[in-house]
Amino acid sequence: MTSLIERYRDRLSLEPGDPVVSLEEGSTPLIEASRLSERLGVRAYLKFEGGNPTGSFKDRGMTVAVSRAMGRGAEAVICASTGNTAASAAAYAARAGLRGAVIVPEGKIAIGKLAQALMHGARVIALQGNFDDALTIVRELAQKHPVELVNSVNPHRIEGQKTAAFEVVEELGEAPGALAIPVGNAGNVTAYWRGFQEVGTAPILYGFQAEGAAPLVEGHPVANPETVASAIRIGNPARWEEAMTAFTGSRGRVAAVSDDQILDAYRWLAANEGVFCEPASAASVAGLLAHGLPVAEDTAPPESVVCVLTGHGLKDPDTALGKAPAVVNCDNDLSAVERAVFD
Ligand code: F0G
Repeated sequence: MTSLIERYRDRLSLEPGDPVVSLEEGSTPLIEASRLSERLGVRAYLKFEGGNPTGSFKDRGMTVAVSRAMGRGAEAVICASTGNTAASAAAYAARAGLRGAVIVPEGKIAIGKLAQALMHGARVIALQGNFDDALTIVRELAQKHPVELVNSVNPHRIEGQKTAAFEVVEELGEAPGALAIPVGNAGNVTAYWRGFQEVGTAPILYGFQAEGAAPLVEGHPVANPETVASAIRIGNPARWEEAMTAFTGSRGRVAAVSDDQILDAYRWLAANEGVFCEPASAASVAGLLAHGLPVAEDTAPPESVVCVLTGHGLKDPDTALGKAPAVVNCDNDLSAVERAVFD
């Protein structure tokens, strides 16, 4: 295995002298999903970004952002986060020997992400506010103090994340007809679009937001975003314009899915494809199941679709256990176990 920077350095934004801070991210599985293909009537693949070292796609951007920060002589990194960016920033900061601080909305991040950020030694600050409030504050802090802001407003994050599009095209031998992706702060859809364009391709992009946190669908910021998919509980995406450019340019669209649709897709994927992603990730599949793959009038329907599963299901055991069937308790006895297994 090699680092993402070693594989793609000539196409990334690093300076020649920058060190490589890596956990061997990228090269994630692209899994053909036969049952999902049947339901959608189109060949479907799952790009399982939960396979990254900290369990989400954030690592692709973080390796580049933290390597560049080291090159610039930074001593600390900071971010606002719904959880995954925090976990990733904390891990890469630890790897680089930098200090890390992460600002998260109090009580609103999945427990696995919190455990990661704390274990990697970041200072974790729980803000009495939402992600949008936290992002506003860290942007100001980064202006006032010598800390590197590693949210996706950092251009190097987008550079690293675009490599997922390279991988998809390399692995399929061509671009897929379409790509479905959950949208929160809108950095990732921006990154995929850049990556696809850099290799001369333009699959239809379908973006999905949670109904209670769907500013791009509604056309205005949402003051109090709410959704079970805590990773995408965002009311005012930083990369709003770029995301809309990606949807328009790819002849795709952005639509909303309800929390129930998200949770149904989340469970269905785990039980029928053997792939356990976090709730926000399942928005990509939920969206296709709810809305199909609509195309513009003069556009041929796509023959294949890649669903980006942005983070690992183990990040959020609380939501999983809240939705899963009960455990069967049993006496320490052969026949009791027999009944428990076979009845
Ligand atoms: N899926 C997951 C699992 C995420 O953690 C995020 C964003 C998204 C999708 C949306 O990606 O923001 O680029 O549109 N999580 C950020 C965080 C905001 O702080 O971890 P996006």
